[in-house]
Amino acid sequence: MESGAVFAGLHPSTTPGSHNLLLGPSRGAVKLLHPAFTEKRLFSIHPHNLQFQKQFHPVSFRNYGNNNVNCVKVDSRASNAVSELADIDWDNLGFGLMHTDYMYIMKCSKDEGFSKGELQRFGNIELSPSSGVLNYGQGLFEGLKAYRKHDGSILLFRPEENATRLREGAERMCMPAPTVEQFLEAVRVTVLANERWIPPAGKGSLYIRPLLMGSGAVLGLAPAPEYTFLIYVSPVGNYFKEGLAPINLIIETEMHRATPGGTGGVKTIGNYAAVLKAQSAAKAKGFSDVLYLDSVHKRYLEEVSSCNVFVVKGNLISTPAIKGTILPGITRKSILDVARSQGFQVEESHVTVDELLEADEVFCTGTAVVVSPVGSITYRDKRVTYGSDGVGRVSQQLYSALTSLQMGLTEDKMGWIVKLK
Ligand code: COI
Repeated sequence: MESGAVFAGLHPSTTPGSHNLLLGPSRGAVKLLHPAFTEKRLFSIHPHNLQFQKQFHPVSFRNYGNNNVNCVKVDSRASNAVSELADIDWDNLGFGLMHTDYMYIMKCSKDEGFSKGELQRFGNIELSPSSGVLNYGQGLFEGLKAYRKHDGSILLFRPEENATRLREGAERMCMPAPTVEQFLEAVRVTVLANERWIPPAGKGSLYIRPLLMGSGAVLGLAPAPEYTFLIYVSPVGNYFKEGLAPINLIIETEMHRATPGGTGGVKTIGNYAAVLKAQSAAKAKGFSDVLYLDSVHKRYLEEVSSCNVFVVKGNLISTPAIKGTILPGITRKSILDVARSQGFQVEESHVTVDELLEADEVFCTGTAVVVSPVGSITYRDKRVTYGSDGVGRVSQQLYSALTSLQMGLTEDKMGWIVKLK
């Protein structure tokens, strides 16, 4: 019998011959086969431990590939117990892909909603050469993180914001999107299935990467007839190789990331392909990344390739306003609130290159980068440096406040944390 048969409480899928298992709307623990362990034990996810879950939707679970796998037992009721961790070097995590155990997949055709999401073993996916995403760039992604606390609990930071942003982006890209509830449930299931990849407290986080793509085949330019929502995860440490040390940016004066009326304000995949050329050139010259200017006046700051930018002058913290060409970062929005709560004056406005060059401090924010201090900006032939001894006071203060919240070390007065277990 296939190993799937050892799942207590699971119902075989209705598809003959498949290894698909339906996790019913069970009130008990959902038991998953865990591929990485050599003893036959059970790994369980208990829906009672979930904060955001109102309903436990049916999720099917597919176990691909080598089914000669075994399981680990984690008593979900003892949710303070830390499950066994993957055997990797947790002290040297960077921001690179590590293959984890499971990914989540949910599909829908153009005029129907998403349904029947399932966990599958992490691996390659099949796409038509004519799929909308490959031919016409009909794709969006998201990024969020799960943190493990010392007491074993698992936290997410504002996941509903990612769900909403994905839906807004999907509207712009002519795609259907999962509901907020479907998104949250898919994140929950995926994170818990990959629990052993969540770094120990203080060593990093589990980066969660939801994708939404036109997976159906098209030839003439049109929205794809089928869509796939997928989530994979990877443990990560710092995004920039500099770690928390200040990064060095160069302002790009010829190429632009976005134009008014375009798609710069949504997290579509093409926005990221569009910055690779300037980013590669900058890196070849020793810079950490590129800062973009607006394409009309070439004078106002937009964002860095993968993060938003903030300028500090005295007690005033300014960042470019969201006007369709800048990604509405969830970290950006959170930092604005944290800064306000700490007594800073906060402004979303046009920020000029001159203001940037005269700033006391500059920092970037993003899910991947969190808060990254900027040590220097190079604009044409001019190089301006900020601070003399590492991380600026304001950047450090906001970084500490935000990361303490995300890691569950300070009281969540904003109601931003979702406890998975
Ligand atoms: C994130 O911060 O999550 C992003 O989407 C940036 C990505 C290019 C790593």
